Amino acid sequence: MAIDYTSRIPNNVDLSDNRTLQRALEHWQPAFLEWWKELGPSDFNASEVFLRTATSVDAKGWATYGEVKMPDYRWGIFLADRDEARTIGFGDEYGKPAWQQVPGEHRSTLRRLIVTQGDTEPASVEQQRLLGLTAPSLYDLRNLFQVNVEEGRHLWAMVYLLHAYFGRDGREEAEELLHRHSGDADKPRILGTFNEPISDWLSFFMFTYFTDRDGKYQLKSLAESAFDPLARTCSFMLTEEAHHMFVGETGIARIIRRTLEVMKEVGDDPEAVRRAGAIDLPTLQRYMNFWFTSSLDLFGADISSNAASYFANGIKGRPDEERYEDHLALDQTYSLELPDAAGGVRTDEVPMRNAMNEVMRQAYVKDCEIGVVRWNRLIARAGVDFEVKLPSPRFRRTIGSWANQFIDPSGRPMSAEAWMARQNDWLPTEADRAFVHSLMHRVTEPGKMAGWIAPPDRGINNLPVEYEYVRLN
Ligand SMILES: [Fe+2]
Ligand SMILES: [Fe+2]
Repeated sequence: MAIDYTSRIPNNVDLSDNRTLQRALEHWQPAFLEWWKELGPSDFNASEVFLRTATSVDAKGWATYGEVKMPDYRWGIFLADRDEARTIGFGDEYGKPAWQQVPGEHRSTLRRLIVTQGDTEPASVEQQRLLGLTAPSLYDLRNLFQVNVEEGRHLWAMVYLLHAYFGRDGREEAEELLHRHSGDADKPRILGTFNEPISDWLSFFMFTYFTDRDGKYQLKSLAESAFDPLARTCSFMLTEEAHHMFVGETGIARIIRRTLEVMKEVGDDPEAVRRAGAIDLPTLQRYMNFWFTSSLDLFGADISSNAASYFANGIKGRPDEERYEDHLALDQTYSLELPDAAGGVRTDEVPMRNAMNEVMRQAYVKDCEIGVVRWNRLIARAGVDFEVKLPSPRFRRTIGSWANQFIDPSGRPMSAEAWMARQNDWLPTEADRAFVHSLMHRVTEPGKMAGWIAPPDRGINNLPVEYEYVRLN
């Protein structure tokens, strides 16, 4: 049966003029919907959700809002507008015209990068699939689903590139993106963090703050790519990503606000805070330690010949490349702190191109600090003597020079025994997780919030907080 893809899939890539692409998508779309129904937020397929849908790339009005059943969501394909004069912004090919097709010599590298990015998108939907059952409000439930459908759209974006530019192996990779599953013993998702279960809302907010922000930096570096369709796809994805991080930042802020209210009544004792049904600040800090460090690993090794060759070849640049003066980075070095044999820290100068992952990670850490400063302002204003802190980027790493070292959250090396003895102070324990889980009860009355989280400052798209953002049918 013929499907009218122009209306079914909003796009700005002239889908109706491209028969090959249409045929490929005709094959893939039913598999995607099957996947959504099985591994997406499956209990809510009949609910009507107030969702934003991308309908163009116009900065002033790129989305429409309205009630939609999620399986009917129009997952569109949008690339930022083409700049005919665009040239390569960094590396050995600096200044030459950007590529409109995939150069043969970079085909497998580009395919792997697109597949790796694409794999994270459905993975996060799978990780979050049961959260709807314990949403603290209809407002939050809607935000979860907004993030979910947009991660679905990001999968479409990567599948479009695979179908349009990588022929048969691209189509096979697109199939595989629906066959790997988060946490699956035989066919897990590609990156570690995307196999961690997200079964409570504290983890969800941490994930959208820290892990979606890793996504932002990956997209920013791919938005610099010499492969123009990839660059333009990723530029537009960043527009949606901003909302995901907003959900994380405001979610954590609202938890803190509620905890501070409770502390005013019951005092500083974490046990008393828990008994009153709020999340104590030390527990919040342990969750932060976990998700921040897990997300740091996604940037890859601090010294990396792959990163150097991606940069040299124009495949993946630095986020905001135009802010740098030297786009070749040939003669520069980067000072890197590394563990030394005596259990201390030494500094090494490494060629800048080999340190690109670290350059990106540093920019990410700085960006993560912005929310931390805001959260601490809330705590200070309430007169509470506590500061949340990002742990040292050396803490609990599994990739790079600091992998499998025994480092405390302040960055100090220590013995394995001492580290083991303290880890329950630093990372969520089974008891923490059980406690957080015990708070997770569904609230479905419009405008009402669960007891562990404060209401948001405002609703969505100028609607009141009390609006019925999800009609549970
Ligand atoms: Fe995404
Ligand atoms: Fe996201």
